[in-house]
Amino acid sequence: MEKTRLVLTREMTAPVMKALAEEFDLLTLAEGQGTEAMLEALERHRAEALIFTSATPLTAGAIAAVPARLRIAASFGVGFDHVDVAAARARGLVVTNTPDVLTASTADMAFLMILGACRRASEYAAILREGWGRSFGLAEMLGIEVSGKTLGILGMGRIGQAVAARARGFDMRVVYHNRSRLEPAQEAGAVYFDRLEDMLPVCDILSLHAPGGAGTAGLIDSRMLALLPRGAVLVNTSRGSLVEEEALLQSLQSGQLFAAGLDVFQNEPFADPRFALLPNVFLAPHMGSATVETRTAMGMRCLENVRAVLAGLPPRDPIWT
Ligand code: 8YV
Repeated sequence: MEKTRLVLTREMTAPVMKALAEEFDLLTLAEGQGTEAMLEALERHRAEALIFTSATPLTAGAIAAVPARLRIAASFGVGFDHVDVAAARARGLVVTNTPDVLTASTADMAFLMILGACRRASEYAAILREGWGRSFGLAEMLGIEVSGKTLGILGMGRIGQAVAARARGFDMRVVYHNRSRLEPAQEAGAVYFDRLEDMLPVCDILSLHAPGGAGTAGLIDSRMLALLPRGAVLVNTSRGSLVEEEALLQSLQSGQLFAAGLDVFQNEPFADPRFALLPNVFLAPHMGSATVETRTAMGMRCLENVRAVLAGLPPRDPIWT
């Protein structure tokens, strides 16, 4: 029997590549290709299925240009701010994402950022790499304690809740702001704030876990940053679009923020180089889901969604219904 034709926009982990190659007539794009190349490959390969990432956004224009034989576009990642959902729905194009499987790895990354920013991890590593050679004074190069502090979580979905669970292990008080209040069982003691403005003044550390897109763009601006207590720490492992970067840079330079932990940026992969010049920023290049286990699980979840649609079943993770 002829295999279904599938376009994959980026090479994945070996177990995912093996599973895809066994099951599909696979066309894999070279690294660095954009949406145009993806559309061209869909046509050339006469593909019925697509697995893609945020590197090849499905804008309204792209969705209009997708060949009619395409039955599913499975996005690798939980966030889908690179997909025009209204256009996909209007066109009837099934688009799926990969929730759940990256919750733990992203929450772990948020905690790495919290600890790294508060405990000056980049600066300490740099000192050793430059040779050390002088004992530090007992009041010199100090970080701030994470244990026992108040952690504010903006966006209390799956990842926000997983960060809260980790915070409880650090005896932290957890407060959160979300579109709606959670059930008490999900809250697990976290205190809800209806207004972000009211929560910020009580946060020693603020961690962002809201989706990207128009609804949250620039939400953390100079006014919001000024509402945090002086010396607070900001961590972002969600989307760079949530934060006004000029305001963030200013807050890091002025001491309004003690530090920041940043895994995501406005202009990826060309993050504003001024962040790397600041010693009080702990940095990563958008690696929240980047573990061997999670990246394989994400690929397999794409595969599961593709299989369902090709079998005429509803996919597990549709982004519109
Ligand atoms: C991925 C992500 O690195 O899941 C998301 O929303 O941002 C990350 O897990 C990304 O989707 C790969 O393009």
